[in-house]
Amino acid sequence: MNGYLKVENSPKLHGDMSLIGAKNAVLVIMASLILTDGKSTLKNVPCSDDVMQMINLLRELGAEVSFDQDEHVLLVDTTFIRKYQVKKEIMKRMRASILVMGPLLVRFKKADIALPGGCVIGARPINFHLKNLRKLGATIQIEGEYLFAKVEKLIPQRIVLEYPSVGATENVLMAALGAKGITTIINAALEPEVLDLIRVLQKMDAAIQIEGPATIIVEGGKVLKPVEYEVMHDRLEAGSLIVATAVTGGSITLSQAPAFMMDVFLMKLQEMGHNIEIGSDGIGVSLKATRYPKAVSFKTAPYPGFPTDLQAPMMVAQCLASGRAVIDEAVFENRLLHVQELQKMGAQIKVDGNRATVTGVDQLYGAPVIATDIRAGCALLIAGLCAKGITTLSGVHHLSRGYESIQTKLSKMGASIEYVESAVFDRHEKDCTKEYY
Ligand code: EPZ
Repeated sequence: MNGYLKVENSPKLHGDMSLIGAKNAVLVIMASLILTDGKSTLKNVPCSDDVMQMINLLRELGAEVSFDQDEHVLLVDTTFIRKYQVKKEIMKRMRASILVMGPLLVRFKKADIALPGGCVIGARPINFHLKNLRKLGATIQIEGEYLFAKVEKLIPQRIVLEYPSVGATENVLMAALGAKGITTIINAALEPEVLDLIRVLQKMDAAIQIEGPATIIVEGGKVLKPVEYEVMHDRLEAGSLIVATAVTGGSITLSQAPAFMMDVFLMKLQEMGHNIEIGSDGIGVSLKATRYPKAVSFKTAPYPGFPTDLQAPMMVAQCLASGRAVIDEAVFENRLLHVQELQKMGAQIKVDGNRATVTGVDQLYGAPVIATDIRAGCALLIAGLCAKGITTLSGVHHLSRGYESIQTKLSKMGASIEYVESAVFDRHEKDCTKEYY
């Protein structure tokens, strides 16, 4: 996308909106299909760039894939997967590619992939993945940017994760399905997207149980069958739309929103003074914004704590709230890059390490800003909606990695957003973003 978004002040966004499927669930679910042989159907699949990347990766391995983007239905036939090598270009473009490692080790007892490398929000090492795949019996050699893994036989184990990493939990869980016997994963990540993966695997006939606290028990060695599955709705898209509505003083209904997965986030919005209603059984959220939002502090944490992926959008809400908010980013070590861009728009934010202290102001002002990652991009888009004047947002490709055209959805709610094609801007953006990489 060689262009930028031109965003204008858009008061009182309102609407009854539907949600897409969750990116962070569908990517790992697509990788898990490597564990089966045959035709699977996934429904509620978002048309985002990362999904397209994962489709490329599966095709690269030999799968037949067709995607009905209008119906959001993905057909994947894994019968003809013959390869266990993943090219560097694919790995570098999308970190989630690492999630094919466990399934490839089960299917081929081998996986030759490139190291995913870091991104702007942090170094993002994969040491927890490698340490525990080795514990399951894999030998892993790293040569330069490449990683060669192989295993004679996967062995059931008691795995203890020193940190409840989402990706490491998912990779180890899938690899453990190839180890005949019981594997226990202690201090596992239990994000809703991990639970959605577990539901798919159980539908493939995998024997997986969850026990408190944060323990996953896998009985491996079973033959897994293809599935038909509807991916969960995206709590992160829901959260982003809710914040956009709150900061513009509007109202929104998301009847599909998984509110029971969003407790801490919704509680913080209520503490700000916004009126929130939850649907029966915890499905569905409505928000009516308060005219006098109060600033609230929060700290990101693994689920069920405050999601790091909503930290940036929620920071924007604090910029225009009365009082002071202390925001601690405790999941990624470099996920406050949006602060510099918000300061360009007149926000009052002090950063000390991974802590941002926001002092509310009466007004933000339009400015040329740059998205450095998916969620920072969303935050700056939201800031533009409540800023005086015009905001030009570049780095739009980050947005389309994680959302299915969120700007179109916001426009349907009354937002004034225009996509402007511009090679000049693209060159400018490249120059500007150099400092972040
Ligand atoms: C997943 O990333 C999500 N991505 C991220 O969403 C999300 O922010 C993150 O979980 C936390 O919720 C996908 O699911 C595709 P982690 P992941 O392993 O698996 C450190 C978005 O915007 N760590 O839980 O990479 C790591 O560096 C994206 O949609 C190690 O040190 O997250 C980080 O600081 C961004 N060694 C922390 O743990 C490891 O081996 C959490 O990472 C693995 C992780």
